Amino acid sequence: MSEKDKKVYLETYGCQMNLADSEVVLSLLNDEGYTLTDDISTADVILVNTCSVREHAEKRIYGRLGEFKSLKNKKPEIIVGVLGCMAERLREKLTTEKAKGVGQEVDLIIGPDEYRKLPELMMQAWHGDRGIAVQLSRIETYDDINPLRTNGISAWLSVMRGCDKFCSFCVVPFTRGRERSRPLASIVQEVETLSSRGFKEITLLGQNVNSYQSKESDFADLLGTVANVDSTIRIRFVTSHPQDMSDKLIKAIAEHKNICKYIHLPFQSGSDRILNLMNRNYDRKHYLNLVHKIKSLIPDVSLTTDIITGFPAETEEDHRQTLEVMKEVQFDGSFMFKYSPRENTPSYKMADDVPDEIKIRRINEIIETQTKISLTKNSSHIGKTLEVLVEGESKKSTSEWQGRTDGNKMVIFPIGKFLVGTYINVIIERANSATLFGFLTHSNTQTAEKAA
Ligand code: SAH
Ligand code: SF4
Ligand code: F3S
Repeated sequence: MSEKDKKVYLETYGCQMNLADSEVVLSLLNDEGYTLTDDISTADVILVNTCSVREHAEKRIYGRLGEFKSLKNKKPEIIVGVLGCMAERLREKLTTEKAKGVGQEVDLIIGPDEYRKLPELMMQAWHGDRGIAVQLSRIETYDDINPLRTNGISAWLSVMRGCDKFCSFCVVPFTRGRERSRPLASIVQEVETLSSRGFKEITLLGQNVNSYQSKESDFADLLGTVANVDSTIRIRFVTSHPQDMSDKLIKAIAEHKNICKYIHLPFQSGSDRILNLMNRNYDRKHYLNLVHKIKSLIPDVSLTTDIITGFPAETEEDHRQTLEVMKEVQFDGSFMFKYSPRENTPSYKMADDVPDEIKIRRINEIIETQTKISLTKNSSHIGKTLEVLVEGESKKSTSEWQGRTDGNKMVIFPIGKFLVGTYINVIIERANSATLFGFLTHSNTQTAEKAA
């Protein structure tokens, strides 16, 4: 069997940036003539694109590496490669004696800025040498690579890489390196290609997407330009940092019909003392003023956030202030995490002094608060007609379909004769904290019949 007849299987963990990077990796391998497979049992090369953000994420991946080990016992010529943030963070651990049992199985270790070397290092591994490439770059954006996307209606599009914010708890600046942005023209070109392929939703990605800066264009310019390419495509973006949320950007979102009125704006903690320890570079007042401004310029906006509970030295009072911000803002949804100390980050030096049982109690209170708010927010849509982008069959039932609103809410509705990727109007009749349920308006049924 020649190297090129090998079948490559790739599994992805972590954030959307990793999903987008995996499409770059698949494109590189495809161009080299490798066969890609979704079936791990037939794979000759097993790659895993990894996440280091919390200990839990890494544990899961270690578990997977253990499973790959048993596959390798049966078929010793299998090559196992660790890509992404864990490769960057744990390159030594993955190669030393200490990591015996896991490290021994890893033939390739490739950080997020070195994917171009993957084909070459795979060849090397094929000939028995472990391949390691973990340099971070100040310029790599994979701008010239056309990501290998399966056809569908939603696409990820990475517009910048890295992070310069250095929040004290976070590994990302160390695993992803410095911020760098892609030129505007190349992003526009990619959006044009996606438009001609029939994509209907594009999510612009960056760890700090709103600090995008390329020559004279900032993120507001980019959003406006991209939105004008095809007015039938919805434009989303994640993740925004409260420090870089300019008035110009809020106005750009308000002014373009096809820029989703949805902002994911992590606040992390409601306490100024903790925000300061986290090195978030804003205080509670700045955050709340920002939310006020966003809500007044974009009245129907959906807001979601990230929250960390149990950061070092967090008191009950700090925790209460977090709950207070949640209640004041009324987020549509939250991603809620227990603080996880990460080696070599600044906050690692601080004692992880909130006992786990307190972290658990606090996160449960945070989750409970959010569930109530989400239910109230979702219920406020009952009786309204919402425009929904049809995604396909519902995950839970074959007699229903699902789609999303502009505000990123999942809507379930009866199956109809319309096409995936079209916009339909749904009247909402009930809601829970996660999902809206509705039926079709008469006008839809008519258009659907025409389309069919
Ligand atoms: N760049 C984005 C998100 C990065 S990671 C931003 O700044 O918003 C996604 C989320 O994981 C963070 O917003 C934070 O809430 C959480 N997170 C990051 N490091 C963490 C840690 N050490 N412990 C717990 N949660 C963490
Ligand atoms: Fe991490 Fe902060 Fe950068 Fe987000 S902004 S990736 S939380 S350092
Ligand atoms: Fe995880 Fe790396 Fe993304 S640490 S969250 S995969 S940037």
